[in-house]
Amino acid sequence: MTKTTYIAAKDRYSNSVGYNYCGNSGLKLPRISLGLWHNFGDVDDANEALKMIELAFDHGITHFDLANNYGTPYGSAEKNFGKMMKEHFASYRDEMLISTKAGHDMWEGPYGEWGSRKYLIASLHQSLKRMNLDYVDIYYSHRFDPNTPLEETMGALSDMVKQGKALYVGISKYPEDKAKEAYRILHENGTPCLINQDKYNIFTRQVEQNVLPLAQENGVGFIAFSPLAQGMLSDKYLNGIPDNSRAAHSYGFLQKSQLTPEVMEKISKLNEIAIQRGQTLAQMALAWCLHKPQVNSVIVGTSSVKQLQDNIDALKNVSFTDDELWRIGELG
Ligand SMILES: NC(=O)c1ccc[n+]([C@@H]2O[C@H](COP(=O)([O-])OP(=O)(O)OC[C@H]3O[C@@H](n4cnc5c(N)ncnc54)[C@H](OP(=O)(O)O)[C@@H]3O)[C@@H](O)[C@H]2O)c1
Repeated sequence: MTKTTYIAAKDRYSNSVGYNYCGNSGLKLPRISLGLWHNFGDVDDANEALKMIELAFDHGITHFDLANNYGTPYGSAEKNFGKMMKEHFASYRDEMLISTKAGHDMWEGPYGEWGSRKYLIASLHQSLKRMNLDYVDIYYSHRFDPNTPLEETMGALSDMVKQGKALYVGISKYPEDKAKEAYRILHENGTPCLINQDKYNIFTRQVEQNVLPLAQENGVGFIAFSPLAQGMLSDKYLNGIPDNSRAAHSYGFLQKSQLTPEVMEKISKLNEIAIQRGQTLAQMALAWCLHKPQVNSVIVGTSSVKQLQDNIDALKNVSFTDDELWRIGELG
């Protein structure tokens, strides 16, 4: 039977994942957020999906990260999440932080991708309908569009805030110089950029160069996506590719070809460090992202309740010795 009641708020929050302020804003983000890119579409197990949202919510994971094109087929993650919102979480809306994005390909024709005002506004209207929501908490430009003036893209985001359809705005995967410009324009529009969402994990550390310092300088928060490199930073591929894993699915974004012998050797060595710390590799990889003070939250994508619980338990040890950091750094 499906669960319909949740742990009382006082327990949900007294024993929760903990919160960080998002940049200089007054908005608190749970240290672990849940992303619905994979595992929540029509091709996935709907019962497990609901159980993951329930487990997350019961542990104070208040932030759910979506985009218009998440799920297979596109839009199905928002649609399925919307069903759960309506049937199970409607009375908890004010305890939830829901984000969505537009920027990648979503529908056919000239208005279904990139950064035009036409696309961003039409897409948010569609997302709100699919999710059964009056507003989203964060609306992102999902990628920089080199063919649309940044004033137009940012203007559309700002207008969504002014119309009450989004409370905050963010950007994702913007080149550093464009992020800087976006921060300026959004500030001038009176809707400061809340957050920058980019890839960050032990294997992908480019944001440390400029993106993180620039966000900090501008009071913008940072949230890391793919903190487990889509599952590569776990012990699951150490003995081959399991049938139910992302690398095995034809519709997943992780390609078998990414699991080269060199990468496998690094994973194996990282796994040894994790074991010495008394953690799983997935737990160590999440803790490693969170030990960086500019990282306000990590967005995990899990395919089971067991994985989500494993990830929540990462928070039991998020400190590293200099030696551990050096050894991990050598394998990145
Ligand atoms: N802004 C952007 O452009 C962008 C891009 C990518 C992602 N995102 C956001 O970030 C979220 C997370 O991205 P992601 O799914 O790539 O994150 P991830 O956490 O790096 O990878 C998730 C995958 O890792 C595996 N996994 C998770 N926990 C595990 C555990 N404890 N033990 C073993 N394996 C574990 C699962 O693989 P299996 O499925 O094989 O079990 C899961 O599907 C997305 O849902 C989305 O919200 C945003």
